Amino acid sequence: KVQTRMQSITENLTNLFTTAITAAFPDITDPPIVIALSGNNPKFGDYQCNSALPLANIYKQLGKKIAPREIAQKIVENVPSHELIEKFEVAGPGFINIFLDKNYATNSLSTIFEYGVRPPSIKKKLKVLVDFSSPNIAKEMHVGHLRSTIIGDSICRLLEFLGHDILRINHVGDWGTQFGMLIAHLQDKFPDYLVKSPPISDLQTFYKESKKRFDEDEEFKKRAYASVVKLQSFDPDHIKAWELICNVSRKEFQKIYDRLDIKLIERGESFYQTRMEQLVKELANDLEEDEGRKVLWGGGTIPLTIVKSDGGFTYDTSDMAAIKHRLHEEKHDWVIYVTDAGQATHFQTLFGCAKKIGVIDEKVHRVDHVGFGVVLGEDKKKFKTRSGDTVRLLDLLDEGLRRALDKLKEKERDKVLTPEELKQAQESVAYGCIKYSDLSHNRNHEYVFSFDKMLEDKGNTAVYLLYAYTRIKSIARTANLTPEKIRELSKTHQITLEHDKEWKLGKVLLRFPDVLLKITKDLCLHHLCEYVYEIATTFTEFYDNCYCIERDSVGDIVNINIGRILLTEATAMVLERCFYILGLKPVSKM
Ligand code: ARG
Repeated sequence: KVQTRMQSITENLTNLFTTAITAAFPDITDPPIVIALSGNNPKFGDYQCNSALPLANIYKQLGKKIAPREIAQKIVENVPSHELIEKFEVAGPGFINIFLDKNYATNSLSTIFEYGVRPPSIKKKLKVLVDFSSPNIAKEMHVGHLRSTIIGDSICRLLEFLGHDILRINHVGDWGTQFGMLIAHLQDKFPDYLVKSPPISDLQTFYKESKKRFDEDEEFKKRAYASVVKLQSFDPDHIKAWELICNVSRKEFQKIYDRLDIKLIERGESFYQTRMEQLVKELANDLEEDEGRKVLWGGGTIPLTIVKSDGGFTYDTSDMAAIKHRLHEEKHDWVIYVTDAGQATHFQTLFGCAKKIGVIDEKVHRVDHVGFGVVLGEDKKKFKTRSGDTVRLLDLLDEGLRRALDKLKEKERDKVLTPEELKQAQESVAYGCIKYSDLSHNRNHEYVFSFDKMLEDKGNTAVYLLYAYTRIKSIARTANLTPEKIRELSKTHQITLEHDKEWKLGKVLLRFPDVLLKITKDLCLHHLCEYVYEIATTFTEFYDNCYCIERDSVGDIVNINIGRILLTEATAMVLERCFYILGLKPVSKM
């Protein structure tokens, strides 16, 4: 059987051991199949099957005493032979150590040259909607939205790579009550707004002005409320004013997305207005009265507010209309929401209610709230400017660019790179470090935003990894081998996995499919960052111990080890793929 891609080792082993255990112990239904990496000691093999002990426990409860070692032995006897496995060893109280076969590994890694770094095969191509970024119009896009943008984009890139069908949705807050006061203020300040576009460039200030009037002036407040009603019934003049305001925000948001190379389709809360009206009608029998509001309970501690006492709709209403549209009209299989962890209860309630009214069918749909912790400043307090304002994202990106350039100059890179190369390296480092430091932290925890930390060139940082990558790329360049030439050579030469350090690196690369599959389960990108870091450090170990290029005493190249150059190139290609998923843009010179 010809391999055309690296396959998931864990999945293969799980299948093999499921077969073995069900054959050896047919009386146990749903036996525990526990496959794990063996850790660092080569004595324990590469992977382990730790099912014997839990099986012995199950038998004990059934009143049968069987030694776990005996169980392990019996499992091993029943594993169908497979090219993946060199041998097994039963160790300790009943662990099964699994040793990978080098031939299999070589063949598996070689697919990279012929077919590229391909994703593991998926059982079914899913239609997935990822709702991320989603800032609010006229309010500042803050670091929380930056996290959502970075994490959401990376999830999309991963699922796209795996071959799913992804819709990237920006669920902007464009329909809330704040539009009443904004529109009323616009009408006062620029009465001819219908014929001449008003010059609002700074929506922040505009927002503050209207908020001040709203809080202080009863008359204005009334008009603001009336404006919301008119807007939500699609009065053309109000719609025009609303569009003008939205466009100003839209332009600002787009600058951020362009800089970070993020693609999104805007479909804000306003999109659901008629669907919300429809929804309320359909839910008539499910809604309960609560102090004038109409609420929907879904088994949680709080209900969704579907209709406010003044008859208006809420964030809850739009999310219920949206999930229904996504799962039933658009027929997505999977919907992912990326927001701060503070909204966890909102989404729990939403999912609970959606199940109750039959919108989510757990047998066919998957829904996830991908939450993340707050962004803190270096003082461990909420991320703010010195004067206590929220940090403007554009300023933050500018600072990143400045700091990245300083870093490159500190390393005297400006003396070796062309201005064009320097600029590319600067952007790669600046945006790369912001994205990577976010993704490399477990998203469930709060996260300290520190340029100093993210620009360090040691440890698990974008700078370290981008440098590691350029170093790897420079090896083949030194040997005068282009990627095309290397691909050519792969037809006549094999990757070598003889030396301990070659073998170690090869096995790390083989884990690529497993890492991706793990992330599709918990949607935690830091697994990928840890993996990339492991590739880089294992590569360094290999490179320190194994000559790829040998020189004589005057420095002339006397020997090029092609098998090792192939391993080097395979490493670079896996890294490139990981970088792509993480939204990093490596440069070959830095
Ligand atoms: N606009 C919201 C906020 O800034 C996020 C929206 C997330 N998506 C959703 N479907 N609720 O917090």
